[in-house]
Formats: sequence, C-alpha cells, structure tokens
Amino acid sequence: MGKIKACLFDLDGVIVDTAKYHYIAWRELAKELGFDFTEEDNERLKGVSRMTSLEILLEIGGVTLSEEEKIRFADKKNENYRTFILKMQPDEILPGAKSFLEELKTKGIKIALGSASKNAMTILDRLELTYLFEAIIDGTKVSQAKPDPEVFLKGAEELNVKPEECVVFEDAEAGVEAAKAGKMKCVGIGSTDVLGKADIVIDGLHQMDYNKLLSLEN
Ligand code: BG6
Ligand code: MG
Repeated sequence: MGKIKACLFDLDGVIVDTAKYHYIAWRELAKELGFDFTEEDNERLKGVSRMTSLEILLEIGGVTLSEEEKIRFADKKNENYRTFILKMQPDEILPGAKSFLEELKTKGIKIALGSASKNAMTILDRLELTYLFEAIIDGTKVSQAKPDPEVFLKGAEELNVKPEECVVFEDAEAGVEAAKAGKMKCVGIGSTDVLGKADIVIDGLHQMDYNKLLSLEN
C-alpha cells in the first residue's frame, strides 16, 4: 500500500461495547416470542444489520412472522435498546480508543466512522467523540451491508482519500471482509480464529499506536 492517510473505525465492539445492550434487548424480544436467546447466539448478530439480526433471531427460535410484524418487532427492540444507549457515559469508551483517535488527529491522519448501526450518531454524541470524526458513514447512509465494502468506500470518498491509503479497524468477520473487498488494510479486534483475514489482529485499541499503524505500510 501507499502512505496511510486515513483510519476508518467500526463502532460497536471497537470503540464501545454495545453488544451487551443489543443482547438484553434481543433476549427480551425472544422471551416475548416464547424462546431463549443465549449470549453465544448473540455472537451471530455482531456486525449484522438490525433486520438481518431479527431474521437470525427468528431462525434460532423457529418463529415465522409477517413483514409487518417483523418491522414492528425490530422497532420495539430498537426502542428498548435506545433506553440503554441514551444512558451511556464517556467512561464506557473502550480502553485506548480515545487516546488513539486523538493521537491520529495530532499526526494528521483523517478519521471516519464506518458502522452498520442507525444509532451511531446517538452513541458518538453520548460518548462525546463526535468531534474526532471527519466523516460518519452509518446504517442510515448505506444500502449494502458488510461484507459489502460500501460503508468503507463511502468513508474514503468523503475523506477524499484512496482506498489503498486507508486502514480499517473491525471486530466482526463481515467487517474484515468488507475492508479487504474495498482493498484496504485491516486491523482485526478480537480473536485470530474469527478475524484471520485481517492484516494484524489485536485485543483492543489500547494495543495500537501511530508507530504500529505505520508498520502496516510495508
Ligand atoms: C452493528 C452491530 O454495529 O450495528 C450489530 O454490531 C447491530 O449488532 C447493527 O445489529 C445495527 O445496529 P442498529 O443500532 O442500527 O440496530
Ligand atoms: Mg462491530
């Protein structure tokens, strides 16, 4: 790749752990529909859009719903989820995330968000991080879900950089695939078993700094 000019961040699981709130809200819905939803099942919803998450949930429970009911239940889950995120505080930012974003800013690296969530703006505002992002591409701005590269390609475009000049930070397999499909470098956050296609895999942004970022140029 050429010089690194921009970093694109997934939100859920990279900057903040919202999976626990998604889990509580989906579990309540499952209960209402008459089945159990485990934390292990919840792994399948990471990085996946709201409606696809619902489809997976219904498949797990063996429940069939009409399109109207699906929309009603997805809305209901989202309302419940929002009661949690509206109470979020900046101390819920994952370790090392804010300091890395600030370091990138001082070094002149451009920063964008690339998230499937339609609640991304609310979350960034609650965490007081919005000012760090020059471009925010969220679930309201894309038509193709990850592993399609649309979300990251739009981010690069808004930042005015080439895909080859971008590094993506992702915790979901579909997100790593999206970055690679977009011809970007990718730092996986989580386990190598799941994120093996990333260029490097780390436990969290606390293990990242500008020098390590530059080592990806080689
Ligand atoms: C992703 C999460 O970032 O956003 C998924 O990893 C979630 O679990 C998806 O389903 C959509 O989020 P929202 O906030 O639009 O329901
Ligand atoms: Mg994620």
